[in-house]
Amino acid sequence: MTKRGEIMLAPILWALNLVERFVFYSGRVLAHARMRRLFPGKRVICDYSTIIKYPEQIDIGDDVWLGSSVSLGAYAGLTLEDRVRISHGAFIETASLDLGGEVPYEHKGKPVRIGFGTWIGAYAIVLGGVTIGRQAVVAAGAVVVRDVPDNAIVAGIPARVVGYRPGHEPQAPADQSLA
Ligand SMILES: CC(C)(COP(=O)(O)OP(=O)(O)OC[C@H]1O[C@@H](n2cnc3c(N)ncnc32)[C@H](O)[C@@H]1OP(=O)(O)O)[C@@H](O)C(=O)NCCC(=O)NCCS
Repeated sequence: MTKRGEIMLAPILWALNLVERFVFYSGRVLAHARMRRLFPGKRVICDYSTIIKYPEQIDIGDDVWLGSSVSLGAYAGLTLEDRVRISHGAFIETASLDLGGEVPYEHKGKPVRIGFGTWIGAYAIVLGGVTIGRQAVVAAGAVVVRDVPDNAIVAGIPARVVGYRPGHEPQAPADQSLA
């Protein structure tokens, strides 16, 4: 592009930048207002793109962070304890379909509980019936179908324990032969 073209384009780009900032911050304000309405008295941070189904079925703690494009499906009850962090695109779903019935299948579901300080990584999926312990970590892209112990790091499909938070490894059982 010529120097003249660049000079003519500059104010347009500047104006577009302003619009983008306005949309971004308006989204934040709207998201904040939504959380205050849905969960009064709780400090919950979310993005305007966060999807929340059946909010009345959510028991939420304080200082919970829900990232952009996170989806919470609380049909059968969802508990998020204090300081839970859920990263971009994670999908927490309590609902399923009753495959034993006639089509269209009825909904059924099992509750999910996510313990204090747990971090759910980006694009992870947590399905109904799962209880995740305190300060556990769910790796990016994991699919959690079974309970997760406190402090465990789980990864993969289906998610398995790949480690524990440093300093929180479970104690090995004492060697009885040395007793
Ligand atoms: C879970 C996580 C924190 C683990 O990090 P870490 O403690 O440094 O663990 P390591 O990278 O040493 O990996 C430990 C093992 O788990 C495996 N692993 C780690 N993350 C994995 C993932 N997302 N999927 C599958 N396996 C994974 C590693 O391959 C490794 O296996 P190995 O011992 O057989 O080689 C990290 O991998 C992760 O997923 N972070 C989420 C990032 C994210 O979502 N960010 C959002 C913005 S904040």
